[in-house]
Amino acid sequence: MFRTIEWLDDTSAVRLVDQTKLPLTLEFITTKSHERIAESIEIMEIRGAPAIGAAAGMGMALAAIESKARTIGELIEYLEKAAVTLNTRPTAVNLTWATNRMLEIAKNTEGSVDDITQKLIEEAKEIAEEDVRMSRKMGENALELIKSGYTIQTICNAGSLATVHLGTVGAVVRVAHEKYDGNIKVYSAETRPRQQGARITVFEFMEDGIDTTLITDGMIGTVFREGKVDCCVVGADRILRTGHVINKIGTYTMAITAKYHRIPFYSVAPTSTIDMITNPEDVIIEERNPDEIRIINGTYVTVPDAKVYNPAFDMTPPELLDAIITDRGIVRNPTEEKMRKLFEND
Ligand code: MRU
Repeated sequence: MFRTIEWLDDTSAVRLVDQTKLPLTLEFITTKSHERIAESIEIMEIRGAPAIGAAAGMGMALAAIESKARTIGELIEYLEKAAVTLNTRPTAVNLTWATNRMLEIAKNTEGSVDDITQKLIEEAKEIAEEDVRMSRKMGENALELIKSGYTIQTICNAGSLATVHLGTVGAVVRVAHEKYDGNIKVYSAETRPRQQGARITVFEFMEDGIDTTLITDGMIGTVFREGKVDCCVVGADRILRTGHVINKIGTYTMAITAKYHRIPFYSVAPTSTIDMITNPEDVIIEERNPDEIRIINGTYVTVPDAKVYNPAFDMTPPELLDAIITDRGIVRNPTEEKMRKLFEND
């Protein structure tokens, strides 16, 4: 599959897939403006925690080029403003992780404005390459848990299009599919209201010839009771040191349902998604526009001024997780001590 987002060396521009048009139309957006990248993140033309992290990194590189700064002080000031502009979604930690990483590079690189700008372009490309490497590693690590013949339940899209390439859940499924000669199946929950499961996960797994069945969110308990699923694998927008997993709304309900049916529940994410600082009660859960729920394909499906609550994410506590799969290994029955071990050699 093509890459979700790419830096184009010949024009110093960024090209990304417009995910709001999928699956019916495959369109790309090409831009040289960090404000346009910020908008793409906000309106979810690009979405998924690692993908928006990569987009923010490239947005910072575009900002450096745009700044026309004459001094390093002017460049840093412009970049600090760009970082604020790019942080349009509050829950996925990859956004601030990427903008902070780019600011650190800008502040710690010796040389002229041009030298720093060049270094920022290289760093943005490296964030994207690292993401691809981490995806593959997560897929390989997960083979310890995923056996030939498994059917995996997932939610939202944590596939190739939620990262730079391959995905998190996407990598788990693809690496197992390769290893077990295609003997892996997926159940994808539709994922109301934005339907990332129906629109994006089904699209990309079908493109790769992976046996995928679409269900609505309300059918999860039924497929579990009917014994159709061997394990659940979900992505994450943020994983805390306590082992709490913040992911797409519906993940928490799926985890409770999995526990009741004794189905193993795994979350998979790169280390760039792990936040060792924030406490569970301080995580900001993004609330999105009520019209995402009121309107489907331009048509009201409820009373136009119906009162709506639309949190985009939820938090699953560690006691509902059998393991967290990362690029650095698997954390079974996560605790703070085990999460810290992932970073002990940093
Ligand atoms: O609102 P979205 O589509 O950006 O939410 C995406 C998810 O919740 C994904 O599961 C998560 O970002 C992990 S992506 C590898």
